[in-house]
Amino acid sequence: TEPLRLGIAGLGTVGAGVIKIVRQKAALLAARSGRPITISAVSARNRDKDRGVPLKDYAWEDDPVALATRDDVDVFVELMGGSDGPAKAATEAALAAGKHVVTANKAMLAHHGQALAELAEAKGRALRFEAAVAGGIPVIKALTEGLAGNEIQRVMGVMNGTCNYILTRMENGGLSYQEAFDEADGLGYLEADPQLDVGGIDAGHKLSLLAAIAYGTQVAFDAVELEGIGCVSIEDIRQAADMGYKIKLLGVCRMTGRGLEQSMTPCLVPATSPLGQLDGGTNMVVIEGDQVGQIVMRGAGAGEGPTASAVMGDVMDIARGIDISTFGQPASTLVPAQAAKATAP
Ligand code: NAP
Ligand code: HSE
Repeated sequence: TEPLRLGIAGLGTVGAGVIKIVRQKAALLAARSGRPITISAVSARNRDKDRGVPLKDYAWEDDPVALATRDDVDVFVELMGGSDGPAKAATEAALAAGKHVVTANKAMLAHHGQALAELAEAKGRALRFEAAVAGGIPVIKALTEGLAGNEIQRVMGVMNGTCNYILTRMENGGLSYQEAFDEADGLGYLEADPQLDVGGIDAGHKLSLLAAIAYGTQVAFDAVELEGIGCVSIEDIRQAADMGYKIKLLGVCRMTGRGLEQSMTPCLVPATSPLGQLDGGTNMVVIEGDQVGQIVMRGAGAGEGPTASAVMGDVMDIARGIDISTFGQPASTLVPAQAAKATAP
């Protein structure tokens, strides 16, 4: 049987994790998908950097666009990050060249997801992004596949591991903001620009992608009401604890008669509730469907293994020939979102 050949651009936390899975679990992946999953070529900025994984078996490309369009690449795996620049250029080039694309890049999709998904569909190729939202939690598959028979009433949750880690360590560990931030950095949670994390922007990107799937609307990141955790002090955390609450960066989206509400802001949640007990880099996504009721998904929202796990879930779908539109329905059928001011969750 023909192998499915990957080209991986970005060899940082997530890229190294994907290479480890492909190498260490080759037999398992082949047995489950019915074909070998191989890596043809890789790309990053610094060829000489030790990444903790052997790269000598793979061709090297300095230019991600050259990697994305190689004849021996079937799936371009974009793990560089950044909403524009090389990530977008290489993704467009890959799709135009008839490659499938798997990405963990929520920033790129929140800004350009509509156009990229339309390009993928015009070419009859997959553009998949499970790893972009809530790390290892397969929430995109839940919404696009398992819950496809539901009208979605609300999606909410904690979707940024860095912020949840910092808030948790400030509360439980007595750490300063900077100490907690440095620990999160050591765990590989942070975006290249950490302001995306602590400013709530990264979590807002994720919420806007979930809203598009849940409500069949074009991604409307600019309409998300955003506030990061920079305004949260140790004193706020202590006062909340005295009243039996915790402070979480909570995202909520729902469709109302007035339009689509999307908010990502620090909120008080009861300390004994599932959200209140969510510690560290863990994420939680709560989905409410008219048929299924409430579903709660909890798991690692960032880090090497969990994020690479989600990337491989998408790769395996492509290897198996599972054909799901990027946003769960053809991108051309997504309607513009009418934004409504968010009310209390
Ligand atoms: P990272 O550790 O900073 O790695 C980024 C990689 O991309 C590096 O290998 C870097 O090369 C390479 N790169 C950057 N710009 C490049 C360019 N212009 N040309 C070629 N290569 C370039 O990032 P990461 O944490 O793995 O995240 C990668 C993506 O996954 C991002 O979109 C991020 O938002 C997303 N994500 C991350 C996590 C997580 O837990 N880390 C979770 C979910 C999603 P050098 O190493 O040579 O500098
Ligand atoms: N920086 C992100 C976070 C990575 O901390 O959640 C996962 O998307």
